[in-house]
Amino acid sequence: MQKEINIRFEAIENYASLNDLEKKLFDAAIDIRKIAYAPYSEFLVGCAILLENGEIYTGTNQENAAYPSGLCAERTTIFWTAANFPDQKIKKLFVIGAPKAATSSTPIPPCGACRQSILEYEAKQKDLIEIYFASLDGEIFKTKSIRDLLPFSFDSSFL
Ligand code: THU
Repeated sequence: MQKEINIRFEAIENYASLNDLEKKLFDAAIDIRKIAYAPYSEFLVGCAILLENGEIYTGTNQENAAYPSGLCAERTTIFWTAANFPDQKIKKLFVIGAPKAATSSTPIPPCGACRQSILEYEAKQKDLIEIYFASLDGEIFKTKSIRDLLPFSFDSSFL
């Protein structure tokens, strides 16, 4: 029997279509991206997380001469916020990545390992985390939950 899983996402055309809070997250992610530590790939990624108390925290990808020891911007940021504010729910995660030299780009979605890490916190807090991934040009894709980016997800309910 053939079955289907449908995922939902919203395509936001441009920066002007964002509300003020979303614009703040976009600006925070695009600003921090400029100081990403990515000397090996020269692919700079910035991430901004909104907590339920209204605070925004940011992070970038952190690379390493021993390549696998590096970490993506999403995990750098979500691990830091979860470590420092374990009782604060994460409401939104905004990510923007593009090659260092690029002036234009397409929206870059979180990698598989980051999706799995984000899912852990969504499951822990029993509340959805909205995910935004954007291009330098202001095209943005948005999902209401990380599960939309991770169908057939594995979580602690299977253990
Ligand atoms: N990267 C991220 O920071 N987030 C992603 O979701 C995809 C990839 C980083 C990892 C590495 O430093 C560089 O981008 C190239 O893969």
